[in-house]
Amino acid sequence: MNQGIIAAATLSAALLAATTASALYQPSPGEALFDARCGVCHGPDGDERAPKRADLATRTPAQIIDAMTNGSMKPMAAGLSTDQMASIAGFLTGRPAAPAAPAPVAAQPKGPAPTIDQAAAAAGIGRGNPAPAVQPADKMCATHPAIRATATDWNGFGKDTIGTRNQRGTTLNASNVERLKVKWSFAVTGGRYGQPTVVGDWLFLTTGGGHAFALDKNTGCVHWRADIQPSRTSPVVQNIPGMTPSGWVLFLGDRNRDVQALDAMTGKPLWKTNVETHPRAVLTGSPVYYGDTLYVPTSSGEEVTASVADYSCCTFIGAVAALDAKTGRLKWKTPMIEGNRPTRKNAAGTQMYGPAGAAIWSQPTVDPKRGSIYVATGDSYTEIDAPRSDAIVALDMATGKIKWHAQVTPNDNFLVGCNPARPAINCPLGTLGPDVDFGASPIVHTLPSGKQILLAGQKSSEVYGLDPDTGKVLWETKLGTGGALGGIEWGMAADNRRLYVSNSDSGRPAPANPSVSALDPATGKVIWQTKAPRVPCNLARCNVAQSAPPTVIPGVVFAGGMDAWIRAYAADTGRTLWLYDAAARTYETVNGVKDQRAGSFDATGPVVSGGAMYVIAGYSGATGAIGYPLNVLLAFTVDGK
Ligand code: HEC
Repeated sequence: MNQGIIAAATLSAALLAATTASALYQPSPGEALFDARCGVCHGPDGDERAPKRADLATRTPAQIIDAMTNGSMKPMAAGLSTDQMASIAGFLTGRPAAPAAPAPVAAQPKGPAPTIDQAAAAAGIGRGNPAPAVQPADKMCATHPAIRATATDWNGFGKDTIGTRNQRGTTLNASNVERLKVKWSFAVTGGRYGQPTVVGDWLFLTTGGGHAFALDKNTGCVHWRADIQPSRTSPVVQNIPGMTPSGWVLFLGDRNRDVQALDAMTGKPLWKTNVETHPRAVLTGSPVYYGDTLYVPTSSGEEVTASVADYSCCTFIGAVAALDAKTGRLKWKTPMIEGNRPTRKNAAGTQMYGPAGAAIWSQPTVDPKRGSIYVATGDSYTEIDAPRSDAIVALDMATGKIKWHAQVTPNDNFLVGCNPARPAINCPLGTLGPDVDFGASPIVHTLPSGKQILLAGQKSSEVYGLDPDTGKVLWETKLGTGGALGGIEWGMAADNRRLYVSNSDSGRPAPANPSVSALDPATGKVIWQTKAPRVPCNLARCNVAQSAPPTVIPGVVFAGGMDAWIRAYAADTGRTLWLYDAAARTYETVNGVKDQRAGSFDATGPVVSGGAMYVIAGYSGATGAIGYPLNVLLAFTVDGK
């Protein structure tokens, strides 16, 4: 709640002037529409996951309209005309939305109201290319040396196919990290983005602005830029002889649920496969590549339709798809829930469906020894039992058949905006769940005894050790309060000796514990724990939540916070070795932005390769910081050399 008060205090001066100018204040049409359609989640008492009004105010009108026409807010805006959407965007940003292209619409005779897609087209909004606040100018590389696999590569979200986020191939260590300085920076346009992948001297990036990039990892110059749909998945780069002249191929997933293969040397598209037709589904977890197959998880934004009276909720089912990497052909697809069917009608008479949910937010984990793929699932969207929600699920990697599942939180039935005090129209009946998805990839870990254990972290703040053969929970350790934005959000890291865990606990009640911990992978015992200190920060809100995934290198753990501070901890003691406030200064980026600011660390973590650590600040969403304009990739090296 106090987040809302602070957000309200930072509203634009113009808006405050308008609201205090007259006792007989009349809201503008945009404000009235916002209050009616958006306020339940984005208002001061709104949903803790929805960005506050002040955060939305920092985006461009085109970005707001894009969220309503192509993005996750499309169901919330159903039935709104182009002008109405423009008035909401104008109200939020204090800037006029781009005028609608009048000719084609005006020429139309009176007829049925335009569909959302037609409205978007009339407003001149292309599918998924929101205009960035600043259009950067890429600095193209003069030469394009061959891509070479090296021992210092970081490929995909988890660095490797078992999800360790452990980089041994680096010259950074406990005695030189205190000298880390920014060597170069690169403005990242659009909303959420994927974590970079580094292969040889090339760094690959996907952005919410609808681009894939290949950069020189040493200078940030651009080898190529390709137009794609906005993407949040980390690129996966493989050498598959015969697919391209060099053999190098980049795979990514986008917000239209398409998986795409590009030539990694040139950005040229090779194939595209739609893995999910559900209109509310999105791809957030990175694909993982193993043995000529891409394993692709599907997740969704259907969870935000609680207040949409004419939306038939809920029909999205999380799934894993296996694609032939060479052709994109679908080999198999396994849903996490069976038997979605009509159930009851909501109070407006709209047919409801269930069971649904079990989205997979994170990269699957490969266990070739057992022939298994492990995925971690999110909550259930309805009151109908979904036994593979909030679960770790093992699938046969050849056939997709489910081998076992371990559900840790039954009946976690939840939609965003459902609050027992004022239930929205599509909320699950009965007791609402705590919304404690698994958002982090499981890690396959080999203990000193040679025995293997599967490590998983949940938004409940619970960390689990499971038997990879059966799914039996061997130990569990609770690190904090947990909740929708609490607990383990996006990932963990493990080296030979310890499991490193960031516990978010954003805005949670006591015993909230935003912290970084090291656990014994055999027992779950906490070896050390360093609480996130409450220090001054340079963002609108100083949220100390540790939501971003940590990264480990020999002797050092890196972890960033939502307050834009990032720290290096000694891997054996948790002592802070280095700390840096990314928002304390501005950056002159390689791609031509003079005063680029930086925001929260969230959702993606540090990528270490050779002598450098790459990390993106500024993830948008409910991160307690302002969103889009603050996205910047920072490349740190010793002394900035
Ligand atoms: C039921 C709750 C709910 C309602 C109603 C709602 N939103 Fe949202 N909105 C959210 C959540 C939650 C997010 C964060 C999205 C996410 O986590 O993917 C969000 C995100 C956004 C974003 C940022 C999108 C992005 O990609 O970062 C915009 C812009 C937005 N909403 C605008 C609106 C507008 C305009 C309305 C009214 C027409 C609206 N929202 C109604 C819950 C809601």
